[in-house]
Amino acid sequence: MTQKLHIKTYGCQMNAYDSARMAELLAPLGYGLTEDAASADLVILNTCHIREKAAEKIYSDLGRLNAVKRARAARGQPMTLAVGGCVAQAEGDEMRRRAPFVDMIFGPQSYHRLPELVARAARSAGTVLATDFPAESKFDHLPEARIPGAGAQAGFVAVQEGCDKFCTFCVVPYTRGAEHSRAVRQVLAEVRSLAAQGVREITLLGQNVNNYRGEGPDGKTWTLARLIRVVADIAGVARIRYVTSYPADMTGELIAAHGEIPALMPFLHLPAQSGSDRVLAAMNRRHGSGDYRRLVDRLRAVRPDLALASDFIVGFPGESDAEFEQTLALVREVGFAHAYSFKYSARPGTPAAAMPGQVPEAVKSDRLAALQELIDAERRSFNERCAGRTLPVLFEREGKRKGQLVGRSPYMQAVHALAPKSLMGLIAEVRIVAGHANSLAGERMAPA
Ligand code: 5AD
Ligand code: SF4
Repeated sequence: MTQKLHIKTYGCQMNAYDSARMAELLAPLGYGLTEDAASADLVILNTCHIREKAAEKIYSDLGRLNAVKRARAARGQPMTLAVGGCVAQAEGDEMRRRAPFVDMIFGPQSYHRLPELVARAARSAGTVLATDFPAESKFDHLPEARIPGAGAQAGFVAVQEGCDKFCTFCVVPYTRGAEHSRAVRQVLAEVRSLAAQGVREITLLGQNVNNYRGEGPDGKTWTLARLIRVVADIAGVARIRYVTSYPADMTGELIAAHGEIPALMPFLHLPAQSGSDRVLAAMNRRHGSGDYRRLVDRLRAVRPDLALASDFIVGFPGESDAEFEQTLALVREVGFAHAYSFKYSARPGTPAAAMPGQVPEAVKSDRLAALQELIDAERRSFNERCAGRTLPVLFEREGKRKGQLVGRSPYMQAVHALAPKSLMGLIAEVRIVAGHANSLAGERMAPA
C-alpha cells in the first residue's frame, strides 16, 4: 500500500537538500510525495530558525495542520505530523509543550533515523523526540543513490555541514552543530548518481563550504578546490557551483581554481554582512570591509567576468547611520549581481541578542528599504549589461509563451528564449537581447 508524504521546506538550500533526502529515505517504505498536505498520511515541516519570523511561522502552520489532522482522524484517516530542521533542534522541548499534537520532532542531524522514528510514532501516544546530536554521521546512513526530481537539470550535494564561526547574530552553530565534512568518496558517489540521471549542474552545499576538509581516497584531507577539480572530471557534469562561503576561508588555491576550471561557474555567493569594520568586529566576523574588497579584486583578477552575490544584515545592535552608510558604500563599490538583505533579528541564546543598542524596528525598516533599493538597481544594471553578450544557457523548463524555453545563465539569471523542446536539459549559446529586473530575454544562436 502506498502512503502519501508531504514535506514543506522553509529556509535555506541545505534544508531543501535535507527534504529531498528525507523523501528518498522514506520512498522504500512506500511513501510517495504529494503537494497536498490534507491528503498526506505523513506531513513533515522542515523548519528554519535563522530569523524570528521564520520560526514563528511554523507555529501558525502547525495550528492549521492540527485542524486538518483532527478532521482526518474523524474520518478514520490518521495523519502523522512531524517537525524537522533547525526549529525542532533549537526548541524541541518547548515545541512539545506548545504543540503537543506534533507526533515527531527531530533535528537536522537525526533524519537518517526517520524510518525508525515513524515506526515509533505509530506506537507511541506522545511526541517522539530526536534532537540529541548523534555520534554517527547521518551521511553514513543515507542511500548513496539519489532520486533527482523528474527532468531535473540541477542538483545539490551536501559536502559540509555545521559551523564553527560563531558570528554573534547566528543560530547555525547551535542548530546544525560543529563543522563536519563528508568523505570525498561519498560526495563523488552522489555526484555520479545525479550525473548518470541527466543532472548537468552540481551545487556543492555547506554552511561553510569553502572550508571543506574531507577525507580523500588517499587518506589525506582534501580542500574544496581539490574536490571541485575531481567533480569537474565526472562525465556529464558541465557546471559546478558551491554555496555558501565564509570570506576569511577563501584560500589562494580556491581563488586560483576560479581561473582554471571552466566548469566552475563565474558566480560566487560571498556574504559580507556589513560594510562597517566596527560592526563586522562586533559580529565576530573574521574579516574587515577592506579584506572583503581585496578578496573581490583577487577573484576578479583571475576571472574578470565573475559576478558576486552577498548577504547583508541591517540594524545589527549599535549600528549607527554612518555605519549603515558604509554598507551602502560597499554595495556600490562591489556592484553585486544579486544580494539578500535582512533586518537583524535577535535570536535567543546568541551573544548579539544581549548586546546594548538594539536598533528600533522603524530604523531597521528604513535601512532595509534603502539597501534593497540599491541592490535592486544594481541587479537590474547587471542584467542590462548582459544585453549583447552571448551566454551559455542550461534549459530547464518550458516558458509561458508558445515555443519558449526557460533556462539559467552562468550567473543564475532566468533566460527566456524561443527554442525547440529537444534542447531541454542541454546547454546552448544564447544571445541576450534584453536585461530586465529579474530575467533576461535571449535569442538562440544557430549551432556552429
Ligand atoms: N538576523 C538577521 N539575519 C540573519 N542571518 C543570519 N542570522 C541572522 C539574524 N539573527 C542572515 C545572514 C546569513 C543569512 C543566511 O541569514 O545574512 O548570511
Ligand atoms: Fe552563521 Fe556566521 Fe556560521 Fe554563517 S559563518 S552559519 S552567519 S555563524
